[in-house]
Amino acid sequence: MAEQEIERHLMVVIGGTGDLMRRKLLPAMRRLTERGALHGKVVLLASGRRTTFDDESYREWAREALEAAGMPIDVEGSNWCDRCLHYQSVGDQQPEDFERLKRRIEELEREHELPGNRIFYMATPPGAFIDTVERLGEAGMNEGPGWTRVVIEKPFGHDLDSARELNARIHRHFREEQIYRIDHYLGKETVQNLLTFRFANMLFESVWNRDRVASVEILVAEDIGVGRRGEFYDGVGALRDVVQNHMTQLLSLTAMEIPVEFAADAIRDEKVKVLRSLAPIDPSQVVLGQYTAGKVAGEPVVSYLDEDGVAEDSTTETYVAIRTHISNWRWQGVPFVLRTGKRLPQKLTQITIHFRCPALAIFQAHAQATVHANTLIITLQPDEGFDLQFEVKQPHAPLRLQTHSLRFRYEEAFPDLPEAYETLLVDVAQGDQTLFVRADEVEHSWRIYTPLLTARPQVYPYEAGTMGPAEAERLLPPRGEACPI
Ligand code: BG6
Repeated sequence: MAEQEIERHLMVVIGGTGDLMRRKLLPAMRRLTERGALHGKVVLLASGRRTTFDDESYREWAREALEAAGMPIDVEGSNWCDRCLHYQSVGDQQPEDFERLKRRIEELEREHELPGNRIFYMATPPGAFIDTVERLGEAGMNEGPGWTRVVIEKPFGHDLDSARELNARIHRHFREEQIYRIDHYLGKETVQNLLTFRFANMLFESVWNRDRVASVEILVAEDIGVGRRGEFYDGVGALRDVVQNHMTQLLSLTAMEIPVEFAADAIRDEKVKVLRSLAPIDPSQVVLGQYTAGKVAGEPVVSYLDEDGVAEDSTTETYVAIRTHISNWRWQGVPFVLRTGKRLPQKLTQITIHFRCPALAIFQAHAQATVHANTLIITLQPDEGFDLQFEVKQPHAPLRLQTHSLRFRYEEAFPDLPEAYETLLVDVAQGDQTLFVRADEVEHSWRIYTPLLTARPQVYPYEAGTMGPAEAERLLPPRGEACPI
């Protein structure tokens, strides 16, 4: 996260005509150029299988993509497309295609007088990046005249063995310092703020432990179903799609110790320690679910089994609830409850810290004075912010208490939050790996969840538009209960 000068470079996007490029990368690059962060710093070479594109037709495609993303192209935008965007096909990805790609890279570097710094961004369909990474290495593109970095998107394997194999194959060609594994949750401003919130505020850090915290809840709720990704999702499920990566990142950031410095490896070391201390997950403390037909926001939606691309007898989970523990000095005995699901009532990502009850002896004589434990709710999306709930005395006798909250909303303080991909693209260009997942982090995370993939707890149906199967209730911390007197 150190502020560093961005050196001029070439960004090669493999899969440069795909969905990720169209919806996320291209708009993010354009916005970063408009804001000045990448202005004059980067030349883009999109590469894909399509042999029918050349520079001109690609620029046309890009203009349309930007317009579809709500970024109408003015003269400056159009000039940017002409100046910075190029296309080179890699056809069937044969070795000669990569030799051609290499020659084109060298040509562009000469033409734009670039110093030979290169980013290879794998925007390929899920899991397809490894072959490309190997082709790049075999064609000698793993090292260039300047620095070379490679960006890869999840999934990083589908269990522990495949993750290890994937890491080993990448490491044959690229050193870990060159590899940027994206978990887009880490690019979200509010997720990054978890660290500052915890470590820049004496107030919270001193109560962030088993003495003061009763339980921690992490919720990633989505109202959407699997949409057009049915076929892909059916082979994956919520545990692999969201729990192993995004939710585990949230868990590590919430539970980690204070790093020795605010720097990539110091932070990632602490995150890995959390994963190493996570107790093996007890299958009886896991509830899986799959949505049936129902209504979300008043609209009728079909069941998971009726989604396109999903097998009619599929037992893939679209919901997961897990109650687990971290066996270390800070958190021993504190339940961490993770919950995620598709087709829940609304999109909501939240971390809730339930504090312990205070010592209540002094209120014993006041029959109507019920006390509720304090709660800190960190909302990561949407309506990003914090709510700290505490007890106040109601005016007049008899003594009665009421829960109120201190509220902070990002939008009120900072109306312009950057998109995750904007943050991540700048960090790759700066060579800052703080927000990227390290090889050992990926493996430790798979070590935790792989046994569950084999044990396969029962999958319960839940109606779309509800908060998941009723069976998961037993795993959740008690809600709204008064502290015992
Ligand atoms: C992706 C998953 O990684 O994250 C999707 O593959 C999920 O299934 C998405 O919908 C959630 O991301 P966000 O940013 O919308 O919370």
